[in-house]
Amino acid sequence: MSPRLLAPLALLVLVAGCDNGFLTQQGYEPAQPIPFSHALHAGQFQMNCQYCHFGAAQSRHAGVPPAQLCLGCHAQVKPDAPDIQALTKAVAENRPIEWVRVHRLPDFAWFSHQNHVTAGVECQTCHGPVDTMVRVRQDQTMTMGWCLECHRKTLADSELSKRLQPPTDCSACHH
Ligand code: HEC
Ligand code: HEC
Ligand code: HEC
Ligand code: HEC
Ligand code: HEC
Repeated sequence: MSPRLLAPLALLVLVAGCDNGFLTQQGYEPAQPIPFSHALHAGQFQMNCQYCHFGAAQSRHAGVPPAQLCLGCHAQVKPDAPDIQALTKAVAENRPIEWVRVHRLPDFAWFSHQNHVTAGVECQTCHGPVDTMVRVRQDQTMTMGWCLECHRKTLADSELSKRLQPPTDCSACHH
């Protein structure tokens, strides 16, 4: 095909991709430097999400915990396992673990965990059944349409809309 034909095609794919999730990272499931399992820690051991992701209720980012927090248990639990030794070594060398980011919105979109978490939206509503995941994967499309669908549904709910007013104006999410 000639480049003259390809350019509008590429644009079409881009525009279509924005709404149907084709260009999103849905399903993205990167390998991590240490095979930390949510199924084990958050599922089997029922550890609270916010014990580790302690930024979620008070800031933009939920954050990923520092390795020191892991050693609270792993100084005693399985200290000789190779993956735990990698953890211990990183802390001793004052080096952060280079976790691979799974979810990321483009810079031109604004999202903060704080208001969503304090409004009572469950982590799993947006992140799927993380407590069953051996490796974290992006469960939802996280497109603009996805954000707006929940905002509109909340506003249309006569009970919820009494206390929650999620925005639908452009400037709330793009500023
Ligand atoms: C023991 C600490 C711990 C607990 C408990 C925990 N997490 Fe995590 N979480 C991590 C670590 C470490 C990572 C980074 C490595 C990875 O992705 O597995 C992470 C990554 C994530 C990510 C992906 C972040 C990204 O890069 O986009 C999400 C989403 C997440 N956790 C949600 C949850 C939810 C929901 C729960 C509760 C059901 C939970 N976590 C419980 C430690 C924890
Ligand atoms: C509340 C205690 C606790 C905390 C905090 C904790 N873990 Fe664990 N972790 C455990 C237990 C218990 C096991 C299972 C040990 C076993 O199989 O006997 C485990 C297993 C593991 C294993 C598998 C080890 C192996 O080779 O069998 C890895 C890797 C691991 N944890 C990483 C982490 C990381 C990374 C963090 C911090 C983000 C973390 N853990 C925080 C309790 C904890
Ligand atoms: C309303 C949807 C929504 C809810 C509820 C939500 N998240 Fe997120 N989460 C997102 C989005 C969107 C991103 C990507 C943010 C970005 O790129 O700025 C994200 C990113 C993350 C990350 C990656 C690092 C960061 O903080 O940006 C972690 C970890 C995470 N979420 C954990 C959690 C946990 C734990 C909960 C529950 C306490 C939770 N999330 C609740 C939508 C949500
Ligand atoms: C509730 C939050 C929210 C609102 C309100 C919102 N956007 Fe977005 N928008 C996003 C997010 C998140 C993305 C990035 C993900 C994506 O591309 O779908 C985005 C992406 C975009 C893009 C990039 C192309 C595309 O479609 O993905 C444009 C252009 C855009 N928004 C324009 C607007 C305009 C114009 C309005 C008002 C009519 C608006 N947005 C309202 C969250 C929002
Ligand atoms: C499952 C439902 C749900 C999803 C999905 C969701 N939101 Fe919200 N959003 C809410 C609720 C509920 C509120 C709180 C309204 C209130 O407190 O009055 C809110 C509030 C907001 C606010 C205003 C408060 C603040 O944090 O500044 C913004 C901006 C926002 N959301 C952006 C987004 C973006 C961007 C996305 C997608 C990446 C998204 N939301 C996805 C339910 C949702």
